[in-house]
This record gives sequence, structure tokens and C-alpha cells, in this order.
Amino acid sequence: MKIVVIGGTGLIGSKLVKKLREHGHEAVAASPNTGVNSVTGEGLADALKGASVVVDVTNSPSWEDAAVLKFFETSTRNLLAHEAASGVGHHVALSVVGTERLLESGFFRAKLAQENLIKASSIPYSIVRATQFFEFVKQIVDSSTVGNQVRLPPALIQPMAADDVAGAMARIATNSPLNGAVEIGGPEQFRLDELARLELAARQDPREVISDPRARYVGIAVSERALVPGGNAQLGEAHFEDWLNQSTRQAPKSPLQPT
Ligand SMILES: NC(=O)c1ccc[n+]([C@@H]2O[C@H](COP(=O)([O-])OP(=O)(O)OC[C@H]3O[C@@H](n4cnc5c(N)ncnc54)[C@H](OP(=O)(O)O)[C@@H]3O)[C@@H](O)[C@H]2O)c1
Repeated sequence: MKIVVIGGTGLIGSKLVKKLREHGHEAVAASPNTGVNSVTGEGLADALKGASVVVDVTNSPSWEDAAVLKFFETSTRNLLAHEAASGVGHHVALSVVGTERLLESGFFRAKLAQENLIKASSIPYSIVRATQFFEFVKQIVDSSTVGNQVRLPPALIQPMAADDVAGAMARIATNSPLNGAVEIGGPEQFRLDELARLELAARQDPREVISDPRARYVGIAVSERALVPGGNAQLGEAHFEDWLNQSTRQAPKSPLQPT
């Protein structure tokens, strides 16, 4: 099957392209880096020629409210129009668990707009809502840092490995369209503050984590269960602490460290 991965050079996209090729599919990594731009439309018609499935794992270069909304709306409209013209039979998009509970954020308003455009289109589709990637935990910690302190609410989070996200996307992209949404998540729940402590300890980062029920998560208020998926979520296999041990072992040594 020819499967075009829009955002195929990104964190999830590059893993997905590799998995699809390993399973014998013709997977095309499409992104500005490979001459395909879903916002301007550049290269889309050529890339989609003969494709059965399009997977959208793009992300906006800017998370500013107006910019991110414009990105996901324009990109999704362009993709769906080109898919209709090329006879693509399945549009798969990666979204986020709890999007409708996080609308204080412009980023999540943009993801909801993306989902709504897909649902309203004539292309058969599957929306995959994932929990936060293990790889994103550092960004959560950094966005909650002031000086040497990281202030996070003790809300629940059920993060998953980008590898498991890509595996689920590959499975869903090569099956029949769901014409609905499915949730995917990690195998374990943590409290956000506890997760941050694990991340920092493994990286020998001296920042102190303060549990604060009024603290915000990436700039917005979150209720205790806002980030966790429902009981029907498909769960990944990788455990956060195993992944953390592995990724800190693999981290290149700073040139200033003694060898
Ligand atoms: N972070 C999380 O924890 C999390 C959780 C659930 C869902 N998600 C969703 O997962 C998706 C993918 O995330 P990611 O971390 O894999 O993203 P990423 O690593 O930032 O990659 C983004 C990709 O989008 C491409 N892109 C940017 N502008 C484009 C354009 N105009 N046309 C075509 N492609 C464009 C980039 O191409 P270049 O390399 O050429 O710039 C890159 O391949 C996002 O939609 C995000 O909402 C994230």
C-alpha cells in the first residue's frame, strides 16, 4: 500500500515511516524538508498520487494561539481537498487525549478544529488520540520551571513511548477506517509532580519539584483526570522508568565530562 506520512520527518513520523516500510508498505515521508508543505500545498498533489492512505502527524512550528489554529485549519483543509482529488480512502490523524477538556489552551482549540474538519469531510478517517509522549515530559518540566523550582499539580498522567505511538498509528493506518476516534495511552498512571521528579532524578538535574494543586500544566489549569484516557484506550507496552534508564544511558556525554 502507498501510505503518505505528512510530518514524516518528525518524532512520530520518522518512526512510523520506518515501521510501515518494515511491513512492506510504500511509505512516503512528506514534510517541508522533503518538498511537501501541507500549509502552502507545495508538492502535495505529486506526493498523494496513487496513495491509499494519508497519515497526518504534523505539528505547528508556532504554538501561539492564532498561528497554531491557522496551521492546523489550513493544513487539514489542504490535505482533505487533495485527498478527495487523488481518491485517497483513509485519512488518519494524531490528536491528544482529553483535547475537549484542555480548551483553555490555543493549541488544544486548534487540535479540536483539526478533528472537526476531519469529521465533517467526505474522506473515511481514523482519529488517534494519544496521551503525552515520554519524550515530551522534559518540555512539561521546563515549561513549569521558575529558577530552580518546578511547580506542577498532582494531576494524573498516563504517558506513552513515541515508539508505541508509532506502532499504534501503523496498525490503525493499515486497517479499515474507524470513522471515529480511538484513544491510546501508556501502561501506567503517574502524578505529574511524581513524573517530573523521576525525570529530573534520572538526568541528575538538581531542580526541585513542588506539588501545587493550583500550578498549571503547560500554562493551563487541569483537573485531576483531564489528561488520562478512558477505560477503552489501547495501551502501549513501554514503561516510563525503563525508557528513562535507557535514554539516559544513551545520552551523549558532554565534552566537558571526564571519560
Ligand atoms: N507531544 C506529545 O506528547 C503529544 C501527545 C499526543 C499527540 N501529539 C501530537 O502528535 C503530533 C506529532 O508530534 P511530533 O512530536 O511527532 O511532532 P514533531 O516532531 O514536531 O514533527 C512535526 C512534523 O511536522 C512537519 N511539518 C511542520 N510544518 C509542516 C508543513 N507546513 N507541512 C508538512 N509538514 C510539516 C515537520 O516537518 P519538518 O521536519 O520538515 O519541519 C515534522 O515532520 C502533533 O500533532 C501533536 O499534536 C503530541
